[in-house]
Amino acid sequence: MHNKPVALVTGANKGIGLQISKELATHGFTVLVGSRNFEKGKKAAISVGADARAIQLDVTDQHSIDAAAAYP
Ligand SMILES: NC(=O)c1ccc[n+]([C@@H]2O[C@H](COP(=O)([O-])OP(=O)(O)OC[C@H]3O[C@@H](n4cnc5c(N)ncnc54)[C@H](OP(=O)(O)O)[C@@H]3O)[C@@H](O)[C@H]2O)c1
Repeated sequence: MHNKPVALVTGANKGIGLQISKELATHGFTVLVGSRNFEKGKKAAISVGADARAIQLDVTDQHSIDAAAAYP
C-alpha cells in the first residue's frame, strides 16, 4: 500500500514552485510537478527526485484542471 503523502505544486518547473517541490520531496512527499510546458516540467521533475512526476496543468484552463484532477 502507498502511504506516502502526495503534493501537487503548480508553477513548478522553475522559480519558487520548483524550490517548493524540492523541499516537499526532501520531506517525504511524492511531488506532482505542475506547469504548462510539459517538456520543462519533465526536466524539473528529474531534478526534484526519483519520486516526482511532471503533470501538464494550466491553472487558467478548466479543461486542464479537470485533466490534472483525473491524473491517476
Ligand atoms: N521570485 C520572487 O522573489 C517572488 C516573490 C514574491 C512573489 N512572487 C510571485 O510568485 C509567483 C512565482 O514566482 P517565480 O519567480 O517562481 O516565477 P517564475 O520563475 O516565472 O515561474 C512561474 C512558474 O509558473 C508556471 N506557470 C505560469 N503560468 C501558469 C499557469 N497558467 N498554470 C500553471 N503554471 C503556470 C511556469 O511554468 P509554465 O510557463 O510552463 O506554465 C513556471 O513554472 C509569481 O506570481 C511571482 O509574482 C515571486
